[in-house]
Amino acid sequence: MSIKVKFLPSNKEVTADKGEVLLDIALNHGIDIQHACGGFCACTTCHCEVIEGMTNLEDPEGDELERLDVMDGRTEKSRLACQSKIKGPVTVRVVNQD
Ligand code: FES
Repeated sequence: MSIKVKFLPSNKEVTADKGEVLLDIALNHGIDIQHACGGFCACTTCHCEVIEGMTNLEDPEGDELERLDVMDGRTEKSRLACQSKIKGPVTVRVVNQD
């Protein structure tokens, strides 16, 4: 099943499968996003703000919640791209580009 995922500020819209994580989707499509720890929930540089479709992401689990708690610049829309699995269409803003 193809799910639409839009990345800002590049405004690129791509399709991905249910269960894929935002970081992998971005990297697979050449979208610029920092990921200093390589996607292991250890750095928070992959911070994204969910502009639309927050409920279309799987809920954050313990490791991500702990990281978000200590992250600078957190908002209610914040997620870590490397931990966020999609289950429906979303639009996200990449906070840290390379
Ligand atoms: S890439 Fe480091 S926390 Fe996501």
